[in-house]
Amino acid sequence: MSTNVSGKLWGGRFSQPMNQLVADMNASLPFDRRMARQDIVGSMAHATMLGRQDIISAEDRDAIIAGLGRVLAEIEDGTFVFDNQDEDIHMAVEKRLTALIGAPAGRLHTARSRNDQVALDVRLWMREALALTSMRLLDAAEAALNVGDRYPDAIMPGYTHTQRGQPVLVAHHLHAWATMLLRDVSRLGDVYTRVNVSPLGGAAMAGATWPIDPDYTAELLGMPALCANSMDAIGDRDHVIETLAALSIISMHLSRIAEELVLWTTAEYGFAELGDAFTTGSSIMPQKKNADIAELMRGKTGRVYGALVSILTITKALPLTYNKDNQEDKEGMFDAFDTILMLLQVLPPMLDTLVFFPETLAKAAIGGFSLATDIADQIAKRGLPFREAHEISGRLVARCIREGRTLESLSAAEWAEVSSVFADSPPDVTLLGSVSARNVPGGTAPNRVADAYAASRAKIVSERERVAALLATETELHARLDAVLAR
Ligand code: ARG
Repeated sequence: MSTNVSGKLWGGRFSQPMNQLVADMNASLPFDRRMARQDIVGSMAHATMLGRQDIISAEDRDAIIAGLGRVLAEIEDGTFVFDNQDEDIHMAVEKRLTALIGAPAGRLHTARSRNDQVALDVRLWMREALALTSMRLLDAAEAALNVGDRYPDAIMPGYTHTQRGQPVLVAHHLHAWATMLLRDVSRLGDVYTRVNVSPLGGAAMAGATWPIDPDYTAELLGMPALCANSMDAIGDRDHVIETLAALSIISMHLSRIAEELVLWTTAEYGFAELGDAFTTGSSIMPQKKNADIAELMRGKTGRVYGALVSILTITKALPLTYNKDNQEDKEGMFDAFDTILMLLQVLPPMLDTLVFFPETLAKAAIGGFSLATDIADQIAKRGLPFREAHEISGRLVARCIREGRTLESLSAAEWAEVSSVFADSPPDVTLLGSVSARNVPGGTAPNRVADAYAASRAKIVSERERVAALLATETELHARLDAVLAR
């Protein structure tokens, strides 16, 4: 390649070198080097296609692929020299390839632009990260169910407005967590189908002028679909937005779970305790055992939401197609994945240490007149309209509060006075009676909770299989790369 004053691969039309501050600001290499593998696998597929279409010779193709293998080996063994002057991972790889193999390297970028190249790299990177996140979500959902299974009989208060509402099985509450996380898995699956689409062939933005076979390149990369429009292929970042939206929802779920762990493990609630290994002490108050890890799980939501708001803001009002603003899509996305993957890794072992105190839970569950709805239901079931029954139960609660009584302490005679429907037999005012009465699909009756566990566990098994197949695609691609590296 002829040298030019800027020393850039694009330097032909420039007569002055780049300002150093500009070089640093312009460079994405410090962060997009994380996509080196994806960049190289994409280039190998592109070169393979170019060779098959006789756009480049078989010798050039082979030289390029072997050279790319050497570049990757250097990156992975740490001998590759990253220089911000190279701007980004795409140019850094190509420059090194040129140094290693000479002239054939100059043919790699035929029928391609960095615009479709970067779009591809981000999609390939996110595809793998989405599958990995899904796997960890499944582990976390399973961990929640495992906790629930350890407390088949324990009953705790269920809340609305952070006020005690109705009793529920501890296992029911833990199943709610698992359900949230399983919905996240399914949401990531939806996003995955739109991420796993090849933009190659879009080239700079109007489409390549060469007789390429983009279907073949996509097939080599395990992508079942092509972007339908070259301009959209280059300009679209919806898939980053919806990925970050899905990660934000995961983060929100994790933060709700974390918040409950924080509350439950306070002395005020006294519902549960976390293992020492997942809590920290205070440097001044010797008695403290703080749920810092749960708090961080709650707090890290801020940076994940931040990444979503950032990409939404970056892309708003961007005219088609590529603009350098698009380069700002990556750091937040990487950070959001790093954060979520870490949180999902720590959640299962943390949940494994969670110990509930069933006696405290039962006391809290029966307190606060949590059975008032049950009384109303039982009156209504004996013939009165529910509104009237609600009124009677409410008045009874008010009276008990005045007299410092509990519902469970009323005698048969007193129940008969509350309502004539109780003349022959008083209502069932036990926790087990309360939860057992909620015998509807998705309800907290023990048999329904057992059904729900079976269904969720079956879902975890089938989803693990589906996600394992997605991860196998990545392993295959990496193995193909490793085979080239081994040559
Ligand atoms: N580093 C750039 C990015 O991350 C790659 C694409 C650059 N394309 C261009 N025409 N300047 O978006």
